Amino acid sequence: MNFSNETFVIVGGAAGIGAAIARKVAAQGASVIVCDISEINLSRICEEISTSGGTVAGYKMDVGSDESTRNICEEIFEAHGSPDHLIITVVDYSRTLGEISDISASHWKAAFEVNFFGYIRILENFIPRMQNNGKGVITITSSTLAVLPDRSMPIHIPYSTLKHALFGLATAMSVAFNSTKQPIRVISFCPSATATENAISGVAGTKFSHLQGAIAQGATADSVADTFIEKIKDDEFLICTHPNYATDIVELAKTKLNPLRFINRNQTS
Ligand SMILES: NC(=O)c1ccc[n+]([C@@H]2O[C@H](COP(=O)([O-])OP(=O)(O)OC[C@H]3O[C@@H](n4cnc5c(N)ncnc54)[C@H](O)[C@@H]3O)[C@@H](O)[C@H]2O)c1
Repeated sequence: MNFSNETFVIVGGAAGIGAAIARKVAAQGASVIVCDISEINLSRICEEISTSGGTVAGYKMDVGSDESTRNICEEIFEAHGSPDHLIITVVDYSRTLGEISDISASHWKAAFEVNFFGYIRILENFIPRMQNNGKGVITITSSTLAVLPDRSMPIHIPYSTLKHALFGLATAMSVAFNSTKQPIRVISFCPSATATENAISGVAGTKFSHLQGAIAQGATADSVADTFIEKIKDDEFLICTHPNYATDIVELAKTKLNPLRFINRNQTS
């Protein structure tokens, strides 16, 4: 694809899947604005893209803070206007693991602060700009877990829950823009297991460290980014990287959305 004359803002784009998307769309001519809390990774991705001849700007932003998000969004609008694409890939894995026995209100609040309300803070600032501009594509990153239950759920119940919330948010926004005839498209991006550095190190040193090997065997961030970029040209709502997701969603529907029947469907009793 050619993205010349298109601007992408990628929030959480200094590492992992977001960084892979940033590199690839920049290589295809896009002007890329990366926002992230990690200054080291921000400098690294900006240097990488500009050394390869791409157009990039980096902004340090903490989506856990109203003030940081608002101030940096203003700077971005001032310097670059409203983007063609807003992609939010933020996650703070340290706050998302937890079994039923770990769950307290404070654990849940911490999990949602960056990983759900961080998305809301970005949207609160960008939606009015994109509406004024009369166009744009908003990508909200959820997870395959939001559309298909799996056996890893018991160890990251807050993560599964907030990814369902982000899927619901994308669904409702898509319908809302359509019902008011606003030409803003919403994508729910649902990657499945991807071997990013932070996803692997996120479980290190926890009681779930045995999962490192399984995550390391996930897809590469590059291949997930390739699938995402290939599919944004289709006018679809759901971009899922799980290979059999459409068939599996039908299977889940046949169980009347019963997660246990879906997970156990291939086992004989
Ligand atoms: N890796 C997987 O297996 C997988 C699977 C399904 C869905 N996802 C989702 O895909 C997205 C990207 O995942 P990833 O593995 O590439 O993650 P990642 O950790 O590599 O990248 C996320 C980025 O968010 C940034 N970030 C964290 N807190 C922030 C804050 N307060 N403000 C601004 N930036 C902040 C991090 O610095 C990091 O650069 C996430 O939404 C994740 O939940 C990942």
